[in-house]
Amino acid sequence: MEVAADNTVLAIPGHVAIIMDGNGRWAKMRGEPRHKGHRQGVKSVRNIVGACLRNNIRYLTLFAFSSENWRRPRTEVGLLMDLLLTALGSEIKELDENGVRVRFIGDRNHIPVNVQYAMEDAETQTVSNDMLTLVIAVSYGGRWDITQAAQRLVEQVQSKEIDAENITEELLAENISTIDIPAPDLFIRTGGEHRISNFLLWQLAYTELYFTDTLWPDFNEMAFGMALKDYAKRQRRYGMTSEQVVSRKISHA
Ligand code: IPE
Ligand code: IPE
Ligand code: MG
Repeated sequence: MEVAADNTVLAIPGHVAIIMDGNGRWAKMRGEPRHKGHRQGVKSVRNIVGACLRNNIRYLTLFAFSSENWRRPRTEVGLLMDLLLTALGSEIKELDENGVRVRFIGDRNHIPVNVQYAMEDAETQTVSNDMLTLVIAVSYGGRWDITQAAQRLVEQVQSKEIDAENITEELLAENISTIDIPAPDLFIRTGGEHRISNFLLWQLAYTELYFTDTLWPDFNEMAFGMALKDYAKRQRRYGMTSEQVVSRKISHA
């Protein structure tokens, strides 16, 4: 829990979702190949996982590889898959010891089988941890997620488990890949671009958005702290008026 100078307790987001962008440019600035930037990016992941644990943030979702990233040169795709494999190998023990539960979301079909196995192992090994849930989006696209939810609903209609007219937002949400994970409170994109790039389209409906020019390999605990401070200043209204939000807060206090 963080306390501001005037002694008020800063609101900490329960779920932070991050587009880790800018690895390639970080490497290019140093005259290094792109994969050096990706490798350095793993260190930022370690730092931010640690920062989440220290701040009592319960969910962290990281965009590691998008549905569209399959369009990159084959060598870069291969290197990214290898990096995922080695990072899981080197980090999973410590994540487990720190009470981190690892989960993956995304279309696993195209992922190399050895990487799929490592993903399943990481999920099984950490399944009973509950300090922080680390959701890693690999081969993930928001449109894919909504499409697969629609497919599952159709199957349930066909098998007469549900009636088509009873499909609600809640029912669709129950078939989205982040079922049982609350929607992100804070979205962060590093690397200077101001776009969602097909990340969590359904889940970000009421998330607070934060963009920073800092490149992902440079994104440290201090930069993360700035995002948390910015989040703490926001008033989340969910369609209501500012006065309504204030009076609800008072009545809940
Ligand atoms: C983000 O960094 C990592 C992945 C998309 C896997 P980039 O590789 O997109 O870095 P830039 O945007 O080219 O700098
Ligand atoms: C988004 O970054 C995907 C990940 C960080 C995994 P990109 O670098 O792929 O996004 P665009 O292509 O610039 O929108
Ligand atoms: Mg990029």
